[in-house]
Amino acid sequence: MRLVSLAPLLLSMAFAPMALANDPPAIDNAPGPQLRSGSVMVIPAPAQVHRTTGEGFTITAATSLQAEGTAARRVAAQFADLLARSGGPTLVPGKVTAQGGVRFVLDRSAPATRLPATPDERYVLESTARGITVRATSEAGLFYGATTLAQLATGGSNGLVPAVRIEDAPRFTWRGLMLDSARHFQSLDEIKQVLDAMAAHKLNTFHWHLTDDQGWRMEIKRYPKLTEVGSCRIPAGDGGHDAVTGAPRPYCGFYTQQQIREVIAYAAALHIQVIPEIDVPGHATAAIAAYPGLGVLDTPLQPLSEWGVFPNLFNTEESTFIFLENVLEEVIDLFPAAYVHVGGDEAVKDQWIASARVQQRMKELGATDEMQMQSHLIKRLETFLEQHDRRLIGWDEILEGGLPPQATVMSWRGTEGGLKAASEGHDVVMSPVTDMYMDYLQTASPNEPPGRPLLTTLARTYAFEPVPATLAADKQHHILGLQANMFTEHTRTPARLQHNLFPRLAAVAETGWSPVQQRDFRDFLARLPAQLERYRAWGLAYAQTPFEVTVDHQDDRRSGSVQVHLANPLGYEVRYRTDGQPVNADATLYTSPLQATVPVTVQAAAFFNGQPLAAAPTQTAYTARSLLTRRDDELLTCPGPGQLLLRLEDDGPADGPRAVFNVNIFTPCWRWADADLTGIRTLKVRAGRIPYYFQLAHDEPQRKFEAATRPHGEMKIRRGDCSGPALAEVPLPASLGADGFVTLDATLPKRLTGKGDLCINFTGDTRPAMWVLDEVTLAE
Ligand code: ACM
Repeated sequence: MRLVSLAPLLLSMAFAPMALANDPPAIDNAPGPQLRSGSVMVIPAPAQVHRTTGEGFTITAATSLQAEGTAARRVAAQFADLLARSGGPTLVPGKVTAQGGVRFVLDRSAPATRLPATPDERYVLESTARGITVRATSEAGLFYGATTLAQLATGGSNGLVPAVRIEDAPRFTWRGLMLDSARHFQSLDEIKQVLDAMAAHKLNTFHWHLTDDQGWRMEIKRYPKLTEVGSCRIPAGDGGHDAVTGAPRPYCGFYTQQQIREVIAYAAALHIQVIPEIDVPGHATAAIAAYPGLGVLDTPLQPLSEWGVFPNLFNTEESTFIFLENVLEEVIDLFPAAYVHVGGDEAVKDQWIASARVQQRMKELGATDEMQMQSHLIKRLETFLEQHDRRLIGWDEILEGGLPPQATVMSWRGTEGGLKAASEGHDVVMSPVTDMYMDYLQTASPNEPPGRPLLTTLARTYAFEPVPATLAADKQHHILGLQANMFTEHTRTPARLQHNLFPRLAAVAETGWSPVQQRDFRDFLARLPAQLERYRAWGLAYAQTPFEVTVDHQDDRRSGSVQVHLANPLGYEVRYRTDGQPVNADATLYTSPLQATVPVTVQAAAFFNGQPLAAAPTQTAYTARSLLTRRDDELLTCPGPGQLLLRLEDDGPADGPRAVFNVNIFTPCWRWADADLTGIRTLKVRAGRIPYYFQLAHDEPQRKFEAATRPHGEMKIRRGDCSGPALAEVPLPASLGADGFVTLDATLPKRLTGKGDLCINFTGDTRPAMWVLDEVTLAE
């Protein structure tokens, strides 16, 4: 999602109660793992599992691996590779022994199962004491059987595959992930690692977001400036300039056509189709920067270093339509997939409305409003794609102004667009922002990376049902499936990308593949630790945060006592110690809040079957000072309209770790809820400044600047609902300390009494920067 578009924010708030990162942990809702009887340790859960008698078969390095024919041998080799990479033994394809072994049989003539067959991704896996056979009628099916077998033989099973007959086929044909390579760029190796992991989850569609306001990432031979000019931006703030010389440090990257072919071929071998996205008519700034004649205004543009929704649209000239068709011609040449994505989202029409030339074109083309103008463009591209044997897919805005019946809709602003489109007979992929956006953070942990701290928990992603209950039965086949979307405004590094994707992609995979009756979140949680073991073997930096312990407390400052609440967000068992010794399976099982007197350090970890789930225990030190201190991520936002909460990273240093802040960019105001204020006379606030690098289109008026009365503004302290007269004001300085922070001391007119909310905000229109609170400490 385009980071700051308000539409999804409002939608998500209207449609569903979403937790904020700094809401208290939902301890009571955490379900905890519970393996269903008969389950096999496979994600996504197979359609049908029949446990048979006997002990099963143990795969060891001595096990033979057999396959006949090129395709089956290819799958056998992929199986051997996946098994070894997942922590299993190394098998030698083609080695035959007397003891039976693993066989891959591709029988294109006989249906291997009665489960549905379009496209054919079915397989049957049979395991007995004599050996294991995987059969399928297609290479893709055989490959999925291989991924199931690799899971059965790893993740703690030590190669023992239970005696079982699995008949398996997917529920949906579109099981996707969108990756935004425009906001941040990923290397081929990083993309291949994601593709490997997708395939191991039986995901089959990689939607590649290649163009946006901040970058054009695909080489187009006919228009070299698209990448010469459009693939570089100067990052906002300190990161965009050399600290010594002040010279610009551009952020660049694009994929040559040869590299794109390499990605497509790599994905194809993993049975993943690659769908390119060329976004029109909005998200077009990088293209217009390269070829100004494509834009509506005469003002020169640069690829943007801000996030949000921008007014820059392609113009409506015939020459621009031809440019887009020429681009699509090269796209079609490269990408063999049936679909081409043309975006269509978030194209605010201000420039078209204001342009006499566009209005004249609309008259010529018979478009009575700007929606119809957009629709005209989409229809034109749709016709072009049809002529080239391709199908058009776009975000749900393409419904506005009318859409050709054969176009497919990707529903992101909730599921309503998808419901409408499917009811009208369009094919639909469901990818609602409320459940399927991987830039929304998954827990309230302070260890989450930058992103959107409206939580999209693993449970929420898992619970998403792609077929709306109100969709007529005869239209349900139009729901092709679902897709997770990974927009990367905040995702600068491969580790953060992997953190955001995993394990949530496992939940997406299960919804995409497993029949409804096999979807069971508690059973999924019991199968997940084995999958985590494989993630570690693959070197995947999956999120630790869902496996940490959430620590919350109430305190009585006067007596120095704390009551500490522990929980794992997913409901895994929690154990803890306060004596400094390592937290292992013998540590105390947490059953109720613990009472302690400061100073005390609580170490806690979540466990499954006696094994800790996170790489390190959660450690929380309570001291007399800590009871008087809160970090930004422990504070709430202030009440009132206009909330756009982000978890933002500092803009510097250019290299190395950067500070991260939770901030409501519409009203930068932090609230310590229900603080014990008795006797408090002063506050110390550690504050920093980050670039205000957002454009919000029509949502811009939501941004509230409290008027400043001093040259650089002031910090204000209030009690209650954050709206009354300030208790104290501290002038803000012109510059920060060498570490990028400043400590502001506020003295209150008199000592406070009682409990209540304490609000801290910064005044002034500080753009292009904004103040952020790092930490507040109270003192008597
Ligand atoms: C989107 O998030 N603008 C598709």
